[in-house]
Amino acid sequence: MSDTGALSRRHDMVVFLNGKYVPADQARVGIMTHALAYGTGVFEGIRGYWNEQREDVFIFRAREHFERLHRSCRIMQIDLPFTVDELVEAAAELVRRNGQRENIYIRPFAYKSDEIIGVKLHGLRDHFAMYSWPQGDYVGTDGLRCGVSSWRRVDDNMIPARAKVAGAYVNSALAKTEAQQNGFDEAIMLTSEGHVSEGSAENLFMVINGELITPPTSENILPGITRDTVIHLAHRELGRITRERVIDRTELYGADEIFLTGTGAQIAPVVAVDHRPVGKVKITPDSTEKFGPTVRGEIGPISREIQHIYNEVVRGMRPEYSSWCLGAHSSAKRPATVSARHTTNGQASNGHAESNGANGTNGHKSNGHTPARGRGGAEKATPGV
Ligand SMILES: Cc1ncc(COP(=O)(O)O)c(C=O)c1O
Repeated sequence: MSDTGALSRRHDMVVFLNGKYVPADQARVGIMTHALAYGTGVFEGIRGYWNEQREDVFIFRAREHFERLHRSCRIMQIDLPFTVDELVEAAAELVRRNGQRENIYIRPFAYKSDEIIGVKLHGLRDHFAMYSWPQGDYVGTDGLRCGVSSWRRVDDNMIPARAKVAGAYVNSALAKTEAQQNGFDEAIMLTSEGHVSEGSAENLFMVINGELITPPTSENILPGITRDTVIHLAHRELGRITRERVIDRTELYGADEIFLTGTGAQIAPVVAVDHRPVGKVKITPDSTEKFGPTVRGEIGPISREIQHIYNEVVRGMRPEYSSWCLGAHSSAKRPATVSARHTTNGQASNGHAESNGANGTNGHKSNGHTPARGRGGAEKATPGV
């Protein structure tokens, strides 16, 4: 990550704040802001990938991210006065105004902005901010060593797990810090029933006998957009159907392959869980014992293939997926017409996963933006926005 200082100190950067583009050092909140005290905000994380050849930043699946943001707002009773189309347009405009020609991360944030004391959701004003920031890898992509966390994943009836609620990230932070302070790279969280849920900010896939398996949304996962992308790519590119089913902790110990997925994490293969190597054992030169701290498995072929395909797709290098990639710079022709008004939106779905029927992601309405194979015309990169 190219961290060049806090955004509020960057006079040269622009933030989208309540419908206006303002200098970053003017985008500030008061100390009593409700969301700061109580975590009453919802957010998204969206990546944009710089493609040197095309001289463009491709914003990946912006539409699906803003649809999820709208759903999170509905759950948290936050008024978001911009349509998905307007938000997609504003994200691209932000990248243009900031002159970004690099890999970036876009962070929209809708939050309870009143400066009052009192725990509730209703009767409060809401604000919306969005910024874009240079971003490298969030976690390693060449083999993570994970530990199962002693912290359980929030339950839908505690803090809605399917929404990206700011306050819920205390749960993730506790798990991540515990994992790293115990010498792991990342945490794997179980549900309160003891089933595998997800990483601290990633969904989880395992491969057993060539079959891709991932927990269903009923396991309190965030329904990840990268997860959906992987289910699509595994089906269309590798001919593999992903099974959504409950996973027990010890299944992880015997899995042939495991990888985590997320906008930040991208495709991050896991090479050890709780000091058990995943897949083929690889003893490194400084290994002292079979299950010692440096023992790790090897990244498996399916993880590698998915990672390779994903890395090309997000950079706009596969024309058949161009509808997922919005060229921030090349889409400049269309005028920025962001205005405040209310709207609701549908849900993304994949249609390439098998569910065990327990509230899986199947059965959702199609969002109408499934990439058409062989459609070509990557130049357009305008996913219906
Ligand atoms: C808790 C959690 N789970 C899963 C994910 C992966 O979701 P996505 O692929 O949409 O980024 C994220 C990242 O946003 C997350 O914060």
